[in-house]
Amino acid sequence: MRRSEGHAPGKVILFGEHAVVYGRPAIAVPFSAVEATAIAEEATDKGLTITAPDTGEEIRLGDHTEHPLAAMARLALETLDAPEPDARITIRSTIPIASGLGSGAAVSAALVRALAGYLGHPLPTPLLSSLVFEVEKLHHGTPSGIDNTVVCYEQPIYFVKGWPAEPVRVREPLRLVIADTGVPSATRESVGAVRAAWEQNPDPFEKLFDEIGAIATRARVVIEDGLVEQLGPLMAQNQEALRRMGVSSPELERLVDAALAAGASGAKLSGGGRGGNMIALATAQTSGRIAEALQEAGAVHVWETVVNATE
Ligand code: MEV
Repeated sequence: MRRSEGHAPGKVILFGEHAVVYGRPAIAVPFSAVEATAIAEEATDKGLTITAPDTGEEIRLGDHTEHPLAAMARLALETLDAPEPDARITIRSTIPIASGLGSGAAVSAALVRALAGYLGHPLPTPLLSSLVFEVEKLHHGTPSGIDNTVVCYEQPIYFVKGWPAEPVRVREPLRLVIADTGVPSATRESVGAVRAAWEQNPDPFEKLFDEIGAIATRARVVIEDGLVEQLGPLMAQNQEALRRMGVSSPELERLVDAALAAGASGAKLSGGGRGGNMIALATAQTSGRIAEALQEAGAVHVWETVVNATE
């Protein structure tokens, strides 16, 4: 029986969320402790059916649905110039939805990988990423393109909207603790809220975006030079700017405070904010203590992870 699997990791944004939508640089890394998986298999039913047992969804391409996963499959078939196969694609994901960890982009990327593999035409990464970006626009309205890029390339990236991503060479491993507030927050809405506030009053927002862009630029140098001790203060500055932008929340602030009190050298929200996840910079000595503190402060999921050195 014909069968093909596609995978894509989650992601965390280390620096620059929101400002990246307005052309400033940002840094993101794949987060492979969570991932989306798609399995494409031959089916006796006519046409392509996508099922997502986790959410109870069953989507048939033939039903002309506007569902983003149907849009993703259609775009992939069009690009491959392939007819709709008689197949079933089953999607599973351990990436929490609407939490800033790149679930939408990862599910799309896994789906296209499985489908393209099933049809015998695996897609090159730049093309895969650009297809996922098209569907991200349906999910998110005005995405920067950072999510699809980092989950498709699966490496730390320095990203400026509209430009090819540049790999970030990580000199010293970065130990992160990632914690989920458990408050779902759709990226589309937080990006929309920032846009509305920016339209009302552009000057202070442009200043915040510039400030965040400068932090991301500096952070790249710090990461590439292995100056990990300088990273925490940059995270704190980035969090302060995001707070002023209005995308933090009491739950995020509580987790940031708990991580800092437990010894993190920096902590900030990650992704769209207003809920979702935060990240804290730890060491081998502090990581466990920070994870415990985050749980005690109400996090619904806590992960300890390492961004490995690339050279
Ligand atoms: C979402 O992961 C990051 C945002 O900057 C939106 C985007 O870049 O598309 C909030």
